[in-house]
Order: sequence, then structure tokens, then C-alpha cells
Amino acid sequence: MKILFIADVVGVPGRRAVEERLPSLRDELAAHLVVVNGENIADGVGITPKLADRLLAAGADAITLGNHVWRRGEISPYLKESDRIVRPANLSARAPGRGLTVVDARDGTKVAVINLLGSLFIGPPVSPFEVAEELVEEARRTTPVVLVDFHGEATSEKVAMARLLDGRVTAVIGTHTHVQTNDARVQPGGTAAITDAGMTGPHDSVIGVVADLAIRSMRTGMPVRFETASGDVRIEGVLVECGADGRATSCEAVRVPVP
Ligand SMILES: [Fe+2]
Repeated sequence: MKILFIADVVGVPGRRAVEERLPSLRDELAAHLVVVNGENIADGVGITPKLADRLLAAGADAITLGNHVWRRGEISPYLKESDRIVRPANLSARAPGRGLTVVDARDGTKVAVINLLGSLFIGPPVSPFEVAEELVEEARRTTPVVLVDFHGEATSEKVAMARLLDGRVTAVIGTHTHVQTNDARVQPGGTAAITDAGMTGPHDSVIGVVADLAIRSMRTGMPVRFETASGDVRIEGVLVECGADGRATSCEAVRVPVP
């Protein structure tokens, strides 16, 4: 079976790209399941119930999140109720939502989806390395097809997590930096990995933000109101193929311009 992962969808341009292009892309790539990282869809930070519903309506089977999960408070009840959206598992146990869910692919395969947050520059309450293995064991009691979205800044953490889980999950897909890395691979144990799947949104920008505004903020050290850019919109992500045993057989970066 094939799983299409769509990297961090940024703002209106990213959401439009998904709504306009995902249905045909899903067919072209013959994907049985689509997972979308939606943590930047609300003007670049956070997600609302309405926007989550739009992603699901556009063909996402599951939504993953990241460090901006709480930016829009109205998502909290949605996280409690919906089994199609996961927030990072290594947040406070008292926070709403789940870090692991299981969804059905089009061919009937059950796919577990896990979301974890990296430590560097993000500082989650719990290290991802404290919870990953137990969470994977829990997922594998239901299905051998397990996808991990590891949302983090550091290449080292993301490579280490991919190695730690090699042979135990189908894929460890890095997100958060918005820059697609050139290391899509299947590791020796059968786990697909990419350090960062990239960004679905405007690439004529500084990771999605109007370049002049991001540069002004960095040059002056003063607060600047960021706006989502608009040019050079692409869908980026990764396509993973695996067998019924959950072992990945291929892992390819996806980069599709959306004019
Ligand atoms: Fe992020």
C-alpha cells in the first residue's frame, strides 16, 4: 500500500493548494491513505476546527500537528472528539487530544499515526525519546503499519528517532523546518525516513512568511507582524510504499508546483 504524507500546510496558499490539487495528486500517486500536517494552516500558526474539516474534506485521512497546536484555543474540544487528528504525544498528559490514532486506508489496511515533538528550541514537557517506544508498541498491538510524524528542529534528533524506530514502524517523517531534505530513504530494518518533508505553501518566502518581514525582524530584533507569502506555491511531502507487514519498500520525496 501507499501512504502520501503532505508536509506542513501554510496559510491560505497552502490550504488552497491542498483543496485544488490533492484529490488528483492522490489518484496520480495511487495513494491509499493521506496524512497531512496541518499545524500552520491558520494564517501560518495553528489550526481551527473549520480548517481541520476542510483538510479532511479535501482528502486527508488524518491530520498531524506540532508546536503551534494550542495557538487557536477553539481546536481543544475538536482534539478531544475527533479520532482523525493527533497532537504531539509528548505534551502534558493533562492536555486534551491524543498522540496516537488509527485510521482505515482505502484498501482496508489499518494505519496508526503518531505525532511527536522534538526537544531542541521547542522544549516539550516530555522528551520524545521517553514516550516513542511505548507508543509504537501500543500502535503495533493494532496494526503493523505505523507512521510517525516527528515535528522538530534538529536534524540529529530526527535521524536518531528514525534509527531508534527502524524495523518497528513503517515511516518516521520529519516536519517543522519547512525545508525539504534530500535524504528520503528506507533504512536497513524497513523503516522509511526523511529528515524533513518540507512545506506545502508559498516558497517565495522565508519558510512561508513574506521575506521582507522576516528579514526586517531578524535585522532589527524588533517585533514584526508576519504575513503569509503567496508566490511559488508547492505541495511537498513524501510517498511511502509498504507491504502488509508494515515494512517500507520505497520512500520518495514529493514536490509538486501548484500554479
Ligand atoms: Fe512547527
